Amino acid sequence: MEKKKLELKIDKLVSGGKGLGRHQNKVYFVKYTAPNEIVQIEVIKEKKDYGEGKLLKVIIPSSARVEPACPHYGVCGGCQLQHLDYKEQLKQKVEIFKEQLQRVGKIKDLPPIEAIPSPEPYGYRIRAQFHVDGSGKLGFVEDETLREIKGYGDIVDIETCPILHPRINELIPHLKKVSLKYPSLREIHITYSPNRNEALLKLVGEHILSESQLEEIKKNYLPEFVVGLGSYKRFGRELVRETFYGRDYTFITAKGFNYRVSAESFVQNNYLLWDKFIELVVPQEKSGFSLDTFCGIGFFTIPFSEKAFFVEGSDMNGFAILDAEYNAKVNDRPNVGFLRSTPSQHMKKYLDKEIDTVIFDPPRSGLDKRDLEVLKELAPDRIIYVSCNPSTLARDLARILRWGIYNYKKAYVIDLFPQTAHIESVNILEKVGIEEEETF
Ligand SMILES: C[S@@+](CC[C@H](N)C(=O)[O-])C[C@H]1O[C@@H](n2cnc3c(N)ncnc32)[C@H](O)[C@@H]1O
Repeated sequence: MEKKKLELKIDKLVSGGKGLGRHQNKVYFVKYTAPNEIVQIEVIKEKKDYGEGKLLKVIIPSSARVEPACPHYGVCGGCQLQHLDYKEQLKQKVEIFKEQLQRVGKIKDLPPIEAIPSPEPYGYRIRAQFHVDGSGKLGFVEDETLREIKGYGDIVDIETCPILHPRINELIPHLKKVSLKYPSLREIHITYSPNRNEALLKLVGEHILSESQLEEIKKNYLPEFVVGLGSYKRFGRELVRETFYGRDYTFITAKGFNYRVSAESFVQNNYLLWDKFIELVVPQEKSGFSLDTFCGIGFFTIPFSEKAFFVEGSDMNGFAILDAEYNAKVNDRPNVGFLRSTPSQHMKKYLDKEIDTVIFDPPRSGLDKRDLEVLKELAPDRIIYVSCNPSTLARDLARILRWGIYNYKKAYVIDLFPQTAHIESVNILEKVGIEEEETF
C-alpha cells in the first residue's frame, strides 16, 4: 500500500532533536529537520494524538542547515543534529531545555540560562562504545527509526567517527582485526586519556578471553598507546570484569588536578570542557561543610575542596571511590573524604549538621524518591544539580521548588555532546533568605 505523504512546516525541535510540525491539528515528529523548514514526509507511525514521519525532501530549507560532516549521518544512531550549524544546535538545546522545565516541571519562573559551547564541535569525545559482530563490522547501532521499520538493528560499519578524539579513530582498523580474530566479541569500549596519550579497552563478549589471549591481542594487534585491556561479560546494564592484561587505569588532568581513572570508573566525555565544567559546578565563594553525591573519581570534589571547609563525596561504584581516595592524596587535599553510598544514605548521616552545599550529578534516571525526601530534611543552603537529562531534572526540580524553600538562581546548558541531542546542564538553587553574595 502506498504510504501517506504530507507537507509540513516544522515549528520547533523537541527532546531527542526531532522536529515538530502540525497537519490538520495533529502533531508529527520528524528527525533531521530544522525550525521553519517546509518538508515533505512519509508517515511511518500514526497514533490517535500524534504521528511520526520520515523526512523525504526538504522543500524550503532553514538558513541554519549545513552539510553533515559524517557520511553515515541519518543511518547511524549516534548523532541527531549534524544537519544544523553549531550555533543553531546550541540555540535549539537551550529552547528544548526551557520547554522541558516548563512543560514537564511546570516551572514558571525560569532563571537566567547561559549556553556554554564546546570549544570544538568535533573530535571531542574520549570515550566510545563500539558494537562488533564478528564479520569485521564495527560501529554504532542504527538509527532507532530505521530499527523500528526493519524490526531489527544493524551495526553501521564505520571507518572513522568525526565526534571521536582522533586517537580513538586511529584504533578502529586495529579493533576490526581483533573482532575478526575473536568473533564472539559483541562490544569494544574505549577510554582515552588525551593528557597521557593512553587508552584502556574493554572487550565485551560471550566468551571469556584469558590473560594470555589478551596479551597476544595487545602485542600483535594494538598500538603502544593501549596500556591495558580486559575481558568483560555483560549482565543487563552492568559489565563485569573477568580478566585483565596490562594497566587497568590511566590519568587525566583537569583544572590543574590529576585524576586516576580506572577502567571501571566514569569519566566526563568532552575533554575540551573539563576545566569549564569544574568552574561552573564548584561554587566561587568560600563554602562550609559540603557533600558531592554521585562523585565518581572526585572530578568536582577535589577542586571543590579548595573552596569548602570540608567536602565528602559518595558514589555506589567502589572502583570510582578507590580512585577518588587516591586522587585526594595525589592532589594533596586533606579536607576531603569519600564513601561508597547512595545519596540518601549519605545525606542521612548529616541530618543534625548544617550543610552548606550538596552537589548531585545523577545518571539519566535522576534522583529517586528517597533522595528527595532526605534532601528536604537536610535542607542545605545550596543545591547544585548537574543533569544529563532535562526531563528527569524538570521532574526533580519541580518537587524541590514546591517545598518553597529554594530559589532557582541560574542554569547553564554546557554542550558536552555537540552533534547529538544530549543536553547537559548545571543548575544552581539557593535557600530562600540566604544572603546574595557576589557570584552568579
Ligand atoms: C554522571 S556520573 C558523574 C560522576 C562524577 N560526578 C564526574 O563528574 O565524574 C554518575 C555517577 O553516579 C554513580 N551512580 C549511579 N547510580 C548511583 C546510585 N544509585 N547511587 C550512587 N551513585 C550512583 C555512577 O557510579 C557514576 O559515577
